[in-house]
Amino acid sequence: MAFARQALSSGLRYTLASASKEPTLASVQQTCRRAMSSLQSGKSTPSAARIRNLRSVTRSFSTSTVLRHGDLTPPKPGEERRITFITKDNQALTLEVKDGDNLLDIAQAHDLDMEGACGGSCACSTCHIIVEGEEMYDKIPEPSDDENDMLDLAFGLTETSRLGCQVHMSPELDGLVVRLPSMTRNLQGRDFE
Ligand code: FES
Repeated sequence: MAFARQALSSGLRYTLASASKEPTLASVQQTCRRAMSSLQSGKSTPSAARIRNLRSVTRSFSTSTVLRHGDLTPPKPGEERRITFITKDNQALTLEVKDGDNLLDIAQAHDLDMEGACGGSCACSTCHIIVEGEEMYDKIPEPSDDENDMLDLAFGLTETSRLGCQVHMSPELDGLVVRLPSMTRNLQGRDFE
């Protein structure tokens, strides 16, 4: 009876890991009925004990916020910042964006070819961009050590290279022009073997 009471008080949680075969709703219901019957009759049964043993591997579901690149809100009137992307085939695309937007999000929102393999967490170099003009390059806040480490791995590194996900638009960067490199390098684990 103790087994059955314990199983029932735990909410009769059922898990897969210890089950000898894939449980179905019917089998779970049957197991619960047996445990209930055991509790009522005062006997301990294998079904009640089985549920108790399965408690140790109960897993719960969790949710996390979905990261959505390419979902930018437009700038307020009078607060537009202009940025021009020069694509791999030498096409110039000028966009009006708002302060705080980073170049990865802007590029992806406009279907430009910028991969952003790490989702903007400064852990790859697939958002490599080349800033046109040293004067403008100097207006961008200094890269962090992490960004410099990733830039070292970028294909076709230049003196004015940056990672797009780490560059955020600001009033100083109004009129920024960046070039997308002809190739990016998406490193795999085997590259370090
Ligand atoms: S998206 Fe990976 S470093 Fe920018």
